[in-house]
Amino acid sequence: MTTAHPTPAVRDRILSLPPSRLPAYVYDLAALRAHAAGVRAALPGRVELYYAAKANPEPEILAALDSCVDGYEVASGGELAHVAKAVPGRPLAFGGPGKTPDEVTAALELGVGRFHVESAHELRVLAELARRVVPRRRVAVLPRVNLPVPDGSLAGSSLAMGGRPTPFGMDPARAEPLLRALADGTYPQLELRGVHAHLASGLEAAELLAVAEGVVGWATGLGVPIAEVNVGGGMGVDYADPERRFDWAAYGEGLARLAEAHPGLTLRIEPGRALTAYCGWYATEVLDVKHSHGEEFAVLRGGTHHLRTPATKGHDQPCSVLPVDTWPHPWPRPSVHSGHVTLAGQLCTPKDVLARRVPVRDLRAGDRVVFSLAGAYAWNISHHDFLMHPRPGFHFLSGDAPAL
Ligand SMILES: Cc1ncc(COP(=O)(O)O)c(C=O)c1O
Repeated sequence: MTTAHPTPAVRDRILSLPPSRLPAYVYDLAALRAHAAGVRAALPGRVELYYAAKANPEPEILAALDSCVDGYEVASGGELAHVAKAVPGRPLAFGGPGKTPDEVTAALELGVGRFHVESAHELRVLAELARRVVPRRRVAVLPRVNLPVPDGSLAGSSLAMGGRPTPFGMDPARAEPLLRALADGTYPQLELRGVHAHLASGLEAAELLAVAEGVVGWATGLGVPIAEVNVGGGMGVDYADPERRFDWAAYGEGLARLAEAHPGLTLRIEPGRALTAYCGWYATEVLDVKHSHGEEFAVLRGGTHHLRTPATKGHDQPCSVLPVDTWPHPWPRPSVHSGHVTLAGQLCTPKDVLARRVPVRDLRAGDRVVFSLAGAYAWNISHHDFLMHPRPGFHFLSGDAPAL
């Protein structure tokens, strides 16, 4: 069974909950803080760390990261209002395609520090709204570029958002005149601060460094004043090998070399998944165990309407079993003694599967099943209302920090 076992505090909390309070998301905030501090320590001083709030915007998560990050990346008016409230006064960068005039206005009113501009149209809207909403303030802009990459160099990516035709950012040939216009005063209220790029998610350190070098090389070679380059997030999380971690040390060393080669340039990264995935667990219980056409199935309380990650990414969510020896019911206890069991949820769709053919010994109704790596793109990307099952409980544990 692929695990990433729950930390002792998470395990104790899960076992203390009665079945009626399952499923539950349990987050270990102390472990999150320790993990984020380790990431921060691996990065050179001249690299700023923003957290991409879309990965997990729970206020407790945002607050727990506060001392380790330099700011937060938000990608909608909703995230903007939410993050500004959860961590007031912290630097924000507003990114994402399709920003509406109302969202841009709200961002200007809130004093958002940086706008990641996705198109020439968006720049013109921002220029006009800045003139109306904050006439005495200059607004920092980082156009988002979609740089082409050598064929196959994003092949390891689970989610490529650039390096090929996409709705994200601008082709270099379109971004370049826009950067020049920003630099030559065509938009007097907009300050060209730098360039932003987020080309893909799910990459290893070497691949991400190649992306960073490409973006920095392109941005600094244009002959326009560039103070900052945001090279995005996308650090891989290995759901098939949950104990493996992104090589932050190698990535930090590579960024240090890049920073040394460009004195005076601030580099920034904005990871989401690789910061918070490891601090969250989705815990539930086995309701039924069944045999169907030669295969074993366990039906769990809950499902992909709470934890959609395995369905969207097409993986098996790593999990472990916490046996519960008591069985309070008068009816017999369904069980499977050994073999491979597919862990399904309560939805009326064959897609409601959290993990396929998991090797188990003695799995019984009433046992707890705990899914790990559920701290990012989990609850907040799920279709909660389908079938109207109850929502899970949420538990945010603080305390001594175990290693993630
Ligand atoms: C612009 C941008 N920045 C950062 C991220 C975070 O990516 P990840 O969670 O893979 O680190 C995303 C994810 O979609 C993104 O679109």
